[in-house]
Amino acid sequence: MKIKSIGSATKRQLDAIFETYNKTFPKSPWSRSYFDSFLFSSKGRAGFFMLNRNNNLCGFILGKKQAGASDEFNLSALWVNKNCRSKGHANALMEKFISETSKKTEKMYLHFRDSNNLQAFYSKFGFINHRIDGQYKNGEPKHYMELKIRRKSLS
Ligand SMILES: CC(C)(COP(=O)(O)OP(=O)(O)OC[C@H]1O[C@@H](n2cnc3c(N)ncnc32)[C@H](O)[C@@H]1OP(=O)(O)O)[C@@H](O)C(=O)NCCC(=O)NCCS
Repeated sequence: MKIKSIGSATKRQLDAIFETYNKTFPKSPWSRSYFDSFLFSSKGRAGFFMLNRNNNLCGFILGKKQAGASDEFNLSALWVNKNCRSKGHANALMEKFISETSKKTEKMYLHFRDSNNLQAFYSKFGFINHRIDGQYKNGEPKHYMELKIRRKSLS
């Protein structure tokens, strides 16, 4: 499936973001209003969509700057719809997210479920210091990784 565009989230996509997230992550459903406030009501948030040629949302990535930890950006979720997978879309969303948020932070971190075997995937983008950091509500181990951003010299 060919990609038409990648860009910053808009309110028009809220229903599609909400629906595709909950389909992908049935164990941790988020409400539509949660997405609304997450993406559009405060500063320090980032969300990027991917659309196919028919203007349907086929992938999304979102994160936020952590309150009280001014320099840490949490990559909160990444998903690609089942019918769009294995075509490099997650790679493209990760590259977009990292290039945009790198301007605003010196460190990025994320968590993922034990059942999502994604350590090698995130390592490719420079995420390191993998460890188990607690567990999810269902007892599944919670994996942690972080990315240290090297600021380019301004000279
Ligand atoms: C994980 C996910 C985002 C990958 O999306 P995708 O568009 O199919 O991925 P890509 O085609 O861009 O592949 C990117 C790379 O990740 C690897 N990869 C893809 N899915 C993977 C998975 N489930 N586990 C481990 N590696 C995976 C690919 O082999 C590829 O490696 P390469 O670049 O070295 O060839 C997608 O399967 C998904 O949405 N899964 C359910 C939700 C999820 O687990 N999200 C991430 C945790 S929050």
